[in-house]
Amino acid sequence: SPRYAVIGHPVSHSLSPLIHARFGKQAGIALEYGAIDAPRENFDAALAAFAAEGGVGANVTLPHKQRAAGICGHLTERARRAGVVNTLVRTATGWDGDNTDGVGLVRDLTSRHGQDLRGRKVLLLGAGGAAQGVAPALLDAGIADLFIVNRTDTRSDALADALGEPRRVHPRYFNDLGAIGSFDLIINATSIARTSRGELVLPGSLIAPRCDVVDLGYGEAAIPFLSWARASGADHVIDGLGMLVEQAAESFLVWHGVRPDGDAVYDELRARES
Ligand code: ATR
Repeated sequence: SPRYAVIGHPVSHSLSPLIHARFGKQAGIALEYGAIDAPRENFDAALAAFAAEGGVGANVTLPHKQRAAGICGHLTERARRAGVVNTLVRTATGWDGDNTDGVGLVRDLTSRHGQDLRGRKVLLLGAGGAAQGVAPALLDAGIADLFIVNRTDTRSDALADALGEPRRVHPRYFNDLGAIGSFDLIINATSIARTSRGELVLPGSLIAPRCDVVDLGYGEAAIPFLSWARASGADHVIDGLGMLVEQAAESFLVWHGVRPDGDAVYDELRARES
């Protein structure tokens, strides 16, 4: 069967192999989907080795999403706007790139969690690969305003510039968080809990009445931020498990031409957590 893989570092705990195996079964499509652990400096070599072994498609995760965009012959419109790639498609001469993170998040929020994103005032925390991946799709979903705050403000400025919608997109300083008002939707796209087991220190004043709060991480990594949100009075708190399933479903569609239903595997993964 054709070979697929997720490439990242660390990657051993990735749920993508399980998700794609379930989708393949559901669609009646035989496939192999593995995990390739490649530290930053080994990405190109690992991808070349995978191609030489017959790899035809790959998901790309931390810390390679930006590099992946750089090696592609062609990018889809949504990958070009994001500037980062999470889905690679083998071509005769190399790889083409796509990004399914943004539609994955929007689909999870709207379809699974019944949210209406239109007109919302949104705070995006972080400006790295994860934030870049989801920002264009949030704008496309009709949010009113996107405030971007990042520890390193040159990155939030760069992301805001790249989005090219100065009337809707507003970079702000981390130190100004106490004075920028409140939001309808707050999305944590930082890697702080994953990479340093740390926690953002945020003012409760960010939470407007009926504010929903999302962490793009899942499992342990989502606990500190979502606990803060709950304690600060957030309405719905949502982790990144559904987005993970939905970005995988969209990648599956890109590779196989069939969109799987994510609900069964989402329920299975949720049940495993408890
Ligand atoms: P990812 O693909 O997960 O976005 P990344 O591109 O390395 O990974 O980006 C990590 C994000 O988490 C960045 O927004 C980073 O902020 P900086 O640009 O200032 O590095 C943010 N981040 C990581 N550790 C953090 C911490 N301890 N405090 C605040 N933000 C942090």
